[in-house]
Amino acid sequence: MNHRPFGKTNRSISEIGYGSWAIGGMWGPLDDAQAKQSLHQAIECGVNFIDTAAVYGDGHSEQLIGKVVQERRKREQIFIATKVMPKNYQWPAREKDPANEVFPRAWIREMTERSLKNLRSDYVDLQQLHVWTPRWLQETEWLEELRQLKEEGKVRAFGVSVNDHDADSAMSLVASGLIDSIQIIYNIFEQRPAERLFPLCQEKQVAVIVRVPFDEGGLTGVLTPTMTFHKKDWRRFYFKPAHLRETCERVEIVKKILEGESMTLPEVALRFCLAHPAVSTVIPGMRTPAHVTSNCAVSDGRSLSEGLLKSLQAQAWPRNFYPNWDKEGL
Ligand SMILES: NC(=O)c1ccc[n+]([C@@H]2O[C@H](COP(=O)([O-])OP(=O)(O)OC[C@H]3O[C@@H](n4cnc5c(N)ncnc54)[C@H](OP(=O)(O)O)[C@@H]3O)[C@@H](O)[C@H]2O)c1
Repeated sequence: MNHRPFGKTNRSISEIGYGSWAIGGMWGPLDDAQAKQSLHQAIECGVNFIDTAAVYGDGHSEQLIGKVVQERRKREQIFIATKVMPKNYQWPAREKDPANEVFPRAWIREMTERSLKNLRSDYVDLQQLHVWTPRWLQETEWLEELRQLKEEGKVRAFGVSVNDHDADSAMSLVASGLIDSIQIIYNIFEQRPAERLFPLCQEKQVAVIVRVPFDEGGLTGVLTPTMTFHKKDWRRFYFKPAHLRETCERVEIVKKILEGESMTLPEVALRFCLAHPAVSTVIPGMRTPAHVTSNCAVSDGRSLSEGLLKSLQAQAWPRNFYPNWDKEGL
């Protein structure tokens, strides 16, 4: 497993990290035993970066991680990143909502303390605000609280998870130099972060955590145009029938590009993300040990050829399939 520096912190993290949303809930039936096996497998494969959030299964994802990290007695070696959910439960953040309503100081503290309990730890390596809007740069309460938590040693670094498909909304924040990291969607279909945000992150030494490298599963190549999702899998709102059909058509084009290459689509999807030098880690969601093993194997130092990278760059497909979480009752 290769490692990359995590921004200005003196930490070095595995370039494949573990995305733990699905092991918490909302992706169909839960299988805690399998989730724990996958986490163990990831650590054995050299993963030392785990991304979670207080909201994933209302703490369930954090609790599983806490158990596994304790079982392995490796707390200091594992970099755990969690997130404070917005107090108004609004995803994405709305420009009209003041920071002191969405992330009041007491809320940030309460959520951090709850995460620490779930994670069986007295610190988190990274605390992230789960949503962001640029107006909050003028409102500093959230910053004061995160700084205070850092001073107390409960938080070692802090950053922001950027709203879906809205890379530009993080530009002013990154330019401010106030945060250690951003988390952002970047994949073969969503390439806009590479235009302006990634170069700025490199200039400011802000770590980049790439989420959703498989476009919620589309870029694994396993979806079919007529498949249905479990009623407890939120993706039935993301891959509505027309979205699913179009995704499968787009994926077929990518598969054609890969004909004659000796690499699978998931492997290429991860290598595409790792090809950008601004990227600190890529965090695929992976509930099965088999997926963990194959995803970790991608960190072997080999890169995509210039020609293949160019062909993939031509597959950018800007759109936003994320549901209105409130309206869908999610
Ligand atoms: N707003 C935010 O802050 C936010 C939003 C979304 C995600 N995230 C973070 O980013 C992480 C990754 O995103 P995601 O989990 O939503 O989506 P993703 O990584 O794009 O896709 C996950 C899907 O890919 C499948 N998969 C993984 N490896 C595979 C392989 N080698 N072959 C075939 N299929 C494979 C997974 O299956 P299995 O699960 O069955 O293994 C799962 O269905 C999350 O877990 C979370 O930590 C953050």
